[in-house]
Amino acid sequence: MNILVTGGAGYIGSHTVVELMNAGYHPIIVDDLSNAHYRAVDRIGKITGKAPAFYMANCTCKEQLRHVFSQHKIDAVIHFAAFKAVGESVKKPLEYYRNNLDSTLTLLEVMEKFGCKKLVFSSSATVYGPNNPYPYKEEMPAIQSTSPYGWTKVMIERILTDYCTAHPDFCAVLLRYFNPIGAHESGLLGDDPNGIPNNLMPYIGRVAAGKLEKLTIFGGDYDTPDGTCQRDYLHVVDLAVGHLKALEYAQAHEGVEAINLGTGNGISVLELVTAFEKANGIKLPYVIGPRRDGDLPAFWADAAKAKELLDWEAVYSVEDMCRSAWKFAKNASV
Ligand code: NAD
Ligand code: WQD
Repeated sequence: MNILVTGGAGYIGSHTVVELMNAGYHPIIVDDLSNAHYRAVDRIGKITGKAPAFYMANCTCKEQLRHVFSQHKIDAVIHFAAFKAVGESVKKPLEYYRNNLDSTLTLLEVMEKFGCKKLVFSSSATVYGPNNPYPYKEEMPAIQSTSPYGWTKVMIERILTDYCTAHPDFCAVLLRYFNPIGAHESGLLGDDPNGIPNNLMPYIGRVAAGKLEKLTIFGGDYDTPDGTCQRDYLHVVDLAVGHLKALEYAQAHEGVEAINLGTGNGISVLELVTAFEKANGIKLPYVIGPRRDGDLPAFWADAAKAKELLDWEAVYSVEDMCRSAWKFAKNASV
């Protein structure tokens, strides 16, 4: 089966392409490399022994997408391509709305033209917004977010829901990821953002590698067991496998379905720091600083629906996540 993978050179996309190839699918990557490097595509080839099809193209450009669809009979699409930095989206809302909404609308129009009716979409736990109690369940209202980035996910979920109403033979699986961390066991693929990382694990990796002086933990006075925020961290390879399960589900179903991908466990920032130190035998310098604007004290997934509908559950431990993240970070370029 030919699977178009938009954003397939990025962090989650590259790991998913590896799993797709290992399972015998034919992924076709479309990425404009706005937040990735071509070396990730090369490395996918090293890991799997076969170079994936790659188009350097922008999903907001209909001509470029049409070209890809005219070269391959695309059976299904996994749509990762988006801008994803929460803080940047507050400063550049138009760029975020333009890129994330336009790429999805353009993709849907081209899929319709070529009769492709199966889509797996990268949504996010951010769609649960600030008011739902945790653990988050799929039936809770997912109609509010806290940043322009998050709002693009809320809006795209709405667009896909309306599209499925108008086209009952279309299937859109909305995968709501929690906090993916970790890296491929080879150490060749991982999360290596440009500039100073905003997310916790890439920041820890840079501190461990001596490229940043110390970690600042954002807030130690939350109403949580150790005062630091709790999140549902899941291994990126588990997340990648979830996409293969979602593809299988989409082949057999019609309509829209939102599904959480998380472990169902909350881990605090301090617990993650301690796990990283233990797994890798490294001491991480850190200080407790002020809270970061917009952070919620705690949330994690109710993971029952993924188990029920996709027969998916996370299998990697926090130790696996920390070990693989460090294996990647110590050889990373920045
Ligand atoms: P990433 O930035 O590593 O990957 C996204 C890829 O899309 C990049 O390679 C980028 O170059 C490409 N891209 C962006 N706009 C494009 C466009 N218009 N045309 C073609 N390519 C384009 O991010 P990621 O962490 O791998 O995230 C993948 C998806 O998962 C995103 O949609 C993101 O919003 C979503 N998500 C990520 C997280 C997370 O914590 N990483 C959590 C929830 C949801
Ligand atoms: C995790 C915890 C921080 C950095 C974001 C997006 C979300 C989703 C995943 C895409 C928090 C703390 C962090 C640091 C710290 N992305 N932290 N020091 O904020 O849970 O989620 O990424 O959809 O939408 O909002 O992830 O990795 O930034 O933070 O103490 O230097 O680590 O306060 O508690 P977050 P994160």
